[in-house]
Amino acid sequence: MKLSLAEGTALYRLLADPSRLRLLLLLEGYGLSATELTEITGLAQSRVSTHLTRLVRAGLLEVEREGKAALYRLSADDSGAAELWRVMQPKLGDAQARLDRERAEEIVRARTQSWADSVAGRMERYYSPGRTWEATARALINLVDLREVLDIASGDGVLAELLADRARAIICVDISYKVLSAARRRLNGRGNVSFCRADMHRLPLSPESFDHVFLMHALAYTREPALVLQAAAQVLKPGGRLVVAALHRHRHTAAMRAYDHVNLGIGVDALHALLIATGLRVETCRITSREPRPPYFEVISALARAPDKIASGSGIGQVRHPQAGPGFGGDLV
Ligand SMILES: C[S@@+](CC[C@H](N)C(=O)[O-])C[C@H]1O[C@@H](n2cnc3c(N)ncnc32)[C@H](O)[C@@H]1O
Repeated sequence: MKLSLAEGTALYRLLADPSRLRLLLLLEGYGLSATELTEITGLAQSRVSTHLTRLVRAGLLEVEREGKAALYRLSADDSGAAELWRVMQPKLGDAQARLDRERAEEIVRARTQSWADSVAGRMERYYSPGRTWEATARALINLVDLREVLDIASGDGVLAELLADRARAIICVDISYKVLSAARRRLNGRGNVSFCRADMHRLPLSPESFDHVFLMHALAYTREPALVLQAAAQVLKPGGRLVVAALHRHRHTAAMRAYDHVNLGIGVDALHALLIATGLRVETCRITSREPRPPYFEVISALARAPDKIASGSGIGQVRHPQAGPGFGGDLV
């Protein structure tokens, strides 16, 4: 959201105060009452109240009633003030801020309301030690058995590194030698991972070779998504699954150029239709995440399955670049 110059100036003036920054930093971690904030900061109660009122008025904080207590929290809205704070917050921190956080931890521990109670309903926005998306993904990955895997537009092997213990074999395909060399270094010692430089529009792989094909954040790099999806579908074994993560349609041409994208994302219906056209059965295709920061990019997740028995003439199994041998005939790196 855009701020007028007058609003921007007023906001910077509001933030140009160490006490207010202390309060905002404290409320990054917890929902806290005015009394608790007074106790933690050692500021006069009247000053804390005045600061809190101003921060609420500016759209930086909100108040929530919990029983008799009024807890202050960071605002979850998309106001310009909240956006500016989200940019500024990770850059701030000093000895005073650390001390404040330690005192806050003590106070939260001592009160009847637990940390979980204080952030209930918005836990994803609050830090707690070790609770990252990566840790969650690494725990959940133990549930899966992926067998033969193809990672199309693999990048430097982040996904392959996550999946390697849960797959019989993984082939990383990417257009860039440099990226694949980095992937090889990352996966060093993983005997079940191999690397192939190839174009995702024309995969030089045997048909029906893979149980799982991943196409993660790759569609932004094609003007012919139908061709890429068709190529991915063709190498799936009967019953195999294609997993797609794709940037949802947006309007940010600057971001598109900065990341070498060749399109402005894809719509849910368009992706769904393209998947159906490959002959796969679409199990899910919907927006599953929205970034918390502007410009709030959204991502579509899709899962589609190859038919168990291939109908003759369906297109699946008719490979443009058939290769002999079990895996692939691409450019090994
Ligand atoms: C945003 S990265 C995604 C990497 C990885 N899939 C991930 O999610 O971490 C996109 C990758 O696509 C690769 N790429 C771009 N065009 C390609 C093409 N025509 N064929 C194969 N890979 C391509 C790039 O080299 C880059 O490594």
